[in-house]
Amino acid sequence: MNKKPVVCVVGSINMDLTITTMKMPMQGETVLGNEFATYPGGKGANQAIAASRLGADVNMIGAIGNDSFGMTLLNHLKSEGINVKGMMTDLKKPTGIANIILSEDDNRIIVAPGANEHVDSDLVDKHRDLISQSDVLLLQLEIPMETVIHTLKIASEYNVPVIVNPAPYQILPDVLFTSVAYLTPNEIEADAMKDDPLFKSIQEKLIITQGERGVAFYDDGAEQFLPSHHVKVKDTTGAGDTFNGALATEIGRGTSIREAVDFANTAAALSVTKVGAQGGMPTRQEVEQFIQERKHIK
Ligand code: RIB
Repeated sequence: MNKKPVVCVVGSINMDLTITTMKMPMQGETVLGNEFATYPGGKGANQAIAASRLGADVNMIGAIGNDSFGMTLLNHLKSEGINVKGMMTDLKKPTGIANIILSEDDNRIIVAPGANEHVDSDLVDKHRDLISQSDVLLLQLEIPMETVIHTLKIASEYNVPVIVNPAPYQILPDVLFTSVAYLTPNEIEADAMKDDPLFKSIQEKLIITQGERGVAFYDDGAEQFLPSHHVKVKDTTGAGDTFNGALATEIGRGTSIREAVDFANTAAALSVTKVGAQGGMPTRQEVEQFIQERKHIK
């Protein structure tokens, strides 16, 4: 059963302020970097755009500030075909920003959440129709945990399966472990959770991304592993978001978990070949073409 899926994202939107440098500064040190650029980002918006480029109809619930970054980001979401009916303009807080340092094929990120902190239960309640109409709901942790929990409850009222990407890591409430369909930590986040007995009890719901190594998941009653594709890395920012957006799209289409993880793993590999969190996010056609080309190489 393959259909056009509807994915709802309740999450963050940021402007990414990105500096590339040969050397990460140490505590108290100043270094001269290379280029500076601004890119659209935020884990929520990144995942929404990944899903949209891969063929999903996407509803986004979130908040921008009443400022030029906010306007630019909102227009960008619209230009990517995202339904922004659930987006609000916050008059009290600025648009979220992320300070990103790129060095040695990896990144370090600090987020100032701004308006993302005002994505509250009332906003989600106001747009519960966007959740009820969706095949899959996608959540991350750049909005208040209270809102995440409330959104999980709404999704369960409508039997909408939820994928939670627990990033950035926080201690997770029990209800989150028990009510998700899939939890998608990266290996650092998984390591932080590993001693929680509930984490151990939901092995079959875990999909753990491991960067350039690959992705571990559960299928056929056992742990499975798919290695990453070797590509030329330009910017790893947003690779995890591409994975999550792609995973939600494939699960919404009704594909098997193995096929969904395989597709998401390929989309994430392609995403790191261009700069910016969303710069390398592939279209469905690009992922399919990459898969075909790899088949010929083998
Ligand atoms: O996952 C990458 C994203 O994390 C960036 O776009 C940044 O905005 C932060 O939210």
